[in-house]
Amino acid sequence: MKKIILTTLLLGASLFAVDGYKVYQKTCKACHVEMISVAETMKQMKTLKAPPMVEVAHQLKDTIIIKGDKADDEDIHRFTTIAFIKNYLQRPSLDYFMCNPGAVDRFGIMPAQSHLNEEERQAVAEWIYDRYEDVEFK
Ligand code: HEC
Repeated sequence: MKKIILTTLLLGASLFAVDGYKVYQKTCKACHVEMISVAETMKQMKTLKAPPMVEVAHQLKDTIIIKGDKADDEDIHRFTTIAFIKNYLQRPSLDYFMCNPGAVDRFGIMPAQSHLNEEERQAVAEWIYDRYEDVEFK
């Protein structure tokens, strides 16, 4: 019996696990293009509503630097970047935005995405970090 309950719980958890890409498609895609080249970004600048997500991902990853003993710890870098994104979705601010200042001049600060719950914010932040591993913005 215990086994059946546990299996059901595990199945349930994986069935209801939030898919970060789906959150992106539903909530972020309207403003952030998923994949585009630098040249194409320049061309489409007039119709874009926000910096492309590939650029955002690189900008954040390059800006967040872990120093000291843990400098090369990728898990800490990933965790810290995801934590920043999750927080930014609730409280975007001119005081600590990390994206390109030119993007803020052009598009303004992002509207808070506070309609997302904790799981959705976690899933989409993880998706942003992992989606662009080994993908260049050039
Ligand atoms: C209405 C348009 C709009 C939507 C929808 C939107 N964003 Fe943004 N986002 C922006 C703009 C504009 C910027 C650039 C200015 C800034 O950083 O606040 C931005 C910047 C960002 C940044 C960079 C933050 C920084 O440090 O500067 C992240 C990360 C981000 N968005 C994630 C998301 C995610 C994830 C979603 C969906 C859940 C989303 N955005 C939905 C407009 C949007």
